[in-house]
Amino acid sequence: MFEPTDLFERGVGDATDIVQKEMYTFEDHGGDSLTLRPEGTAGVCRAYIEHGLHNQPQPVRMYYTGPYFRYERPQAGRFRQLRQFGIEAIGDGSPNVDVEVIELGWSYIRSLNITGTTLRVNSIGDSECRPAYLDALREYYRGHIDEVCDDDRQRLERAPLRLLDCKKTQCQRIGDAAPKSTDFLCDDCEAHWISVIVLLDGLKDTYPDLVYSIDHRLVRGLDYYTRTVFEIEPERTAGQSTLLGGGRYDGLIEEIGGVPTPGIGFALGLDRIISEVKSQKGFVPPEIGPDVVIVHLGDEARLRASALAAGLRDDGIKVLVAPAGRSMRAQMRYSNSMNARYALIIGDRELESGEGSLRPLQDDGDQSEVPLTVEVIAKALRGG
Ligand code: HAM
Repeated sequence: MFEPTDLFERGVGDATDIVQKEMYTFEDHGGDSLTLRPEGTAGVCRAYIEHGLHNQPQPVRMYYTGPYFRYERPQAGRFRQLRQFGIEAIGDGSPNVDVEVIELGWSYIRSLNITGTTLRVNSIGDSECRPAYLDALREYYRGHIDEVCDDDRQRLERAPLRLLDCKKTQCQRIGDAAPKSTDFLCDDCEAHWISVIVLLDGLKDTYPDLVYSIDHRLVRGLDYYTRTVFEIEPERTAGQSTLLGGGRYDGLIEEIGGVPTPGIGFALGLDRIISEVKSQKGFVPPEIGPDVVIVHLGDEARLRASALAAGLRDDGIKVLVAPAGRSMRAQMRYSNSMNARYALIIGDRELESGEGSLRPLQDDGDQSEVPLTVEVIAKALRGG
């Protein structure tokens, strides 16, 4: 949940918005500076080094999910505590892994019946070819310095890539005509990029609707990226709507103290995925209620209900006992509101006869009388 601050400063990058403005950083009692994780990749790489995962078959494929923290201006789709699901494949620099990772992200989104999304890809080169590109960018933007926003003016010398990312209309126009990173790739990055494109085209047999565009303004907001970067977002919205973003980070592990090791991955924002699923009325997981709610009338029935519930739970049945001291009607209402499959009714009459009434709540089946033993009730609930 938190890491040494230094990990993000070195990994995510000193000049990024995340490190400059968005981290929740505090000192612990020993005087060490810690930061609530703003993202997952740096921590996964730290763990890869710390636990000697280079000794396992490469690439090591990992996933993670949980809360992440960014001090951003809260608005629709942008939270200070967000939930991510992410994957990383560490230890293989081949373009096949790039496309495997992209494919996994695309198929996940499709599996939720989210449609109308687009994939944007770009290559931002590596430490060999990027310096020349950054010089060209600086030179270009210096010629347009009066036309870009104040923020961009300040960022130009420190972080020229960020200017391409600016969401302001006037800056986007200037960014559109800026030099493209793909025109500056060294031979190795160029060969990698061409392979990624060819492999991506090969996915179209499986995903005919996989429309991707090459977007030279896609640079991502974290400094660790090299070569391939990508994002998936809904077509119709702009701004805070990116569902999933990722890319290759071949220099990160070395940067944080490991031996040079390539890696690639993505993270998706679960909060945004959930709201997209809802707005598209896509896959909504069924609400899973208990198998049975035990409805009980009288003190003796309450004791019996509790003992039966323990036995049924031990047998793997999901069971609730309706709240005590309420009328039969109120307890039945409760059973329905819990989305239970059955109500098992125990009153004086049932205690006397030794049989309870098992009433189906979700279909029209008949009520049946069942002996009040764990074995028989469990069997009846399992459909036997
Ligand atoms: P990221 O683009 O910063 O990448 O975040 C990934 C996703 O998290 C975004 O596309 C978005 O859906 C969600 N997200 C980010 N910030 C917020 C927020 N404030 N509120 C709600 N959702 C948000 C990373 O974090 C990289 N670690 C991804 C990666 C993994 N690259 C390589 N491996």
